[in-house]
Amino acid sequence: PVLVVDFGAQYAQLIARRVREARIYSEVIAHDATIDEFKAKDPAAIILSGGPASVYADDAPSLDPAILELGIPVFGICYGFQTMAAALGGEVANTGGREFGRTTFTATDDGVLHRGLDRNQPVWMSHNDAVQVAPEGFVVTGSTPGAPVAAFESVEAKMAGVQYHPEVLHTPHGQQVLTRFLYEIAGLEADWTPANIADALIDQVSDQIGDGLAICGLSGGVDSAVAAALVQRAIGDRLTCVFVDHGLLRAGEREQVEHDFVAATGARLVTVDAADKFLAELSGVSDPETKRKIIGREFIRSFEGAVSDVLGDRAADGDKVDFLVQGTLYPDVVESGGGSGTANIKSHHNVGGLPDDLEFSLVEPLRLLFKDEVRAVGRELGLPEEIVGRQPFPGPGLAIRIVGDVTADRLSMLRKADLIAREELTAAGLDHQIWQCPVVLLADVRSVGVQGDGRTYGHPIVLRPVSSEDAMTADWTRVPYEVLETISTRITNEVPDVNRVVLDVTSKPPGTIEWE
Ligand code: XMP
Repeated sequence: PVLVVDFGAQYAQLIARRVREARIYSEVIAHDATIDEFKAKDPAAIILSGGPASVYADDAPSLDPAILELGIPVFGICYGFQTMAAALGGEVANTGGREFGRTTFTATDDGVLHRGLDRNQPVWMSHNDAVQVAPEGFVVTGSTPGAPVAAFESVEAKMAGVQYHPEVLHTPHGQQVLTRFLYEIAGLEADWTPANIADALIDQVSDQIGDGLAICGLSGGVDSAVAAALVQRAIGDRLTCVFVDHGLLRAGEREQVEHDFVAATGARLVTVDAADKFLAELSGVSDPETKRKIIGREFIRSFEGAVSDVLGDRAADGDKVDFLVQGTLYPDVVESGGGSGTANIKSHHNVGGLPDDLEFSLVEPLRLLFKDEVRAVGRELGLPEEIVGRQPFPGPGLAIRIVGDVTADRLSMLRKADLIAREELTAAGLDHQIWQCPVVLLADVRSVGVQGDGRTYGHPIVLRPVSSEDAMTADWTRVPYEVLETISTRITNEVPDVNRVVLDVTSKPPGTIEWE
């Protein structure tokens, strides 16, 4: 892999993504990893990321300089650029030329990285110190008002760096510069394609599971579907997929899993019909946290029941289901400090916290992938667009989109309204602009309306379209008025007992995406 050394700022993961967008595999590694840990990864190139501090600060994260002597191509960014300059005998100083935000980079005619690009380009900077003198043997290929040496490179040494952040969108040429380093200076080839990724993951899963039995909870979401499809390719029907229909799903979701997913993968699927049980347990409950707890608990019971069913008809005496497949993604792995991934677990939040006496080894085929890569692999495996292009939907389903207690009638109202909103947003071509659009029924609120000749006293439906990159923060999406108008007209005409449609124009924070 191309190793992106994390100096503790938030950029390393983004850089790894950008390298993969250039179709080269990359991973994030901690800056204090030992030289042996570096070597064990057999890196094709090393990228030193941005960091928080000055290279001269007492607590500055440092890098074992021996890493620069391994003969591996190196690219330095921001703090990583300065670290590299200092380690190779250049000069870094604070001369008051700090730059934060957009500035103009002026390229020279020399070198490979900026050849033929606009002479003056906007770039994104964030630095106090600046490289004053490049290391010997390196050509300086550009400057900014605050950094006399803002880029340098040595084709012979296969090393280069830039003071600005090429990985952010505010640096329009950034991806091109990074790609040139990878292809032209490091001499790497683009082989990280969906087909190669899928093949490699299928092999890995086969090795891990051997002739064991595995089980996978399908939620209807993208991640679990792609993880299951990969494992199915690897071990065939020694994988059983379990789908718990808790009755809180949206229109068409069960069919998507039972029909489209199975048709595309040939996976063995067990559906647990638990709608009545869930509804009974939720009866009279309107507190959001209580709803979530009940749903989590019932989910575990249903899943456990399914596991013993699978054992009943699949496994010989004494056999057990050894592996649990999870759709964990790379951002979760990096954010939780990056474990080794083969730990024997007793519980996991993704399936609602399984009880102590169920022991599985985890199979997490997507743990090195970003979301867009998961979608690409899913397409490669032949999963339909309705599944791979799907927007996030919370595990507790429509129950946390009914403000008030959950009843079958209310679920049916909400399902109709949600389907109309989805149909119209898709028809308007807005699916890529919208991260997700929860549709919420305010079941405890009524307002007066007029329809035909009569007075109505019905419920409002809230539309909550949001734009986001990761659901941690979000903005409300500016959906065109005509689309809102169509949705509103259809919902008030087609859904009995709904006489008002309102739009949620709150960002996150302060509002969360879901209402409960
Ligand atoms: P909030 O409402 O916290 O939602 O802004 C952030 C994202 O998480 C989803 N969400 C959940 N997903 N189980 C899930 O699998 C849950 O309990 C859950 N609650 C919220 C939500 O849809 C949004 O994408």
